[in-house]
Amino acid sequence: MRKYIIAGNWKMNMTASETKKLTEELNSAKKCGQQTVIICPPFTSLATANDLLVGSAIRLGAQNCHFAPKGAFTGEISIPMLQECGCEYVIIGHSERRQFFGENNAFINQKLMALLEGGLSPILCIGETLDERQNGKTKAVLETQLAECLKDVTEAKSIIIAYEPVWAIGTGVSASTEQITETHYFIHSWLEKSFLNVAVPILYGGSVNDNNAGEILSIPHVDGALIGGASLVAEKFASIISTAEKLTDR
Ligand code: PGA
Repeated sequence: MRKYIIAGNWKMNMTASETKKLTEELNSAKKCGQQTVIICPPFTSLATANDLLVGSAIRLGAQNCHFAPKGAFTGEISIPMLQECGCEYVIIGHSERRQFFGENNAFINQKLMALLEGGLSPILCIGETLDERQNGKTKAVLETQLAECLKDVTEAKSIIIAYEPVWAIGTGVSASTEQITETHYFIHSWLEKSFLNVAVPILYGGSVNDNNAGEILSIPHVDGALIGGASLVAEKFASIISTAEKLTDR
């Protein structure tokens, strides 16, 4: 039976008081059913969200981490800090971090290894830019990102991949069904070759909303969605969870 991972990436949105409101709305909006539902608020909202999620099926994730457990890294947040806030998942390698904060595959790999070591699930984002897609480099870019970010991984059990074409993030235009089908199949095949006995879930991200979620989640090898804008509105996020639930029930 198909079961989806529906993850909300709140990015730099929601103060702690706004988090309280949205988390309460989500708690009363929708039962998660069979699906794994994750919210990833900003660091300053994690403790608030964690308190409100006691007894809820909604899981908590963060949007970034440092690979060192502690030390002189001004402004950074460690994995033990996130664990104490109740986080089970951490988004790493998001294109906004690659683009605006200069993160590269080697650095992302260090975070991924530290997360596996610490027992948290990395949600590893990969994806090509528009220029790369238009120049026929999509598969080569994804292959490099996968190989370098997953370097030295022997046990892929808790890893989640999020395929997020950079040009589809926050634009209101998601990748087409054909593009998602082809790319997810490529990523799935690569992962299958590398981690023989482990099924690594692959989420799609990039302008997923309550209108297109049904079509996107129906595509083979789409195991869920990483959702930015639409995860900030309780009704929309709950509607996407309902859509996943309906597809699971079929
Ligand atoms: P979006 O963002 O849904 O607003 O396009 C997705 C993401 O960046 O994870």
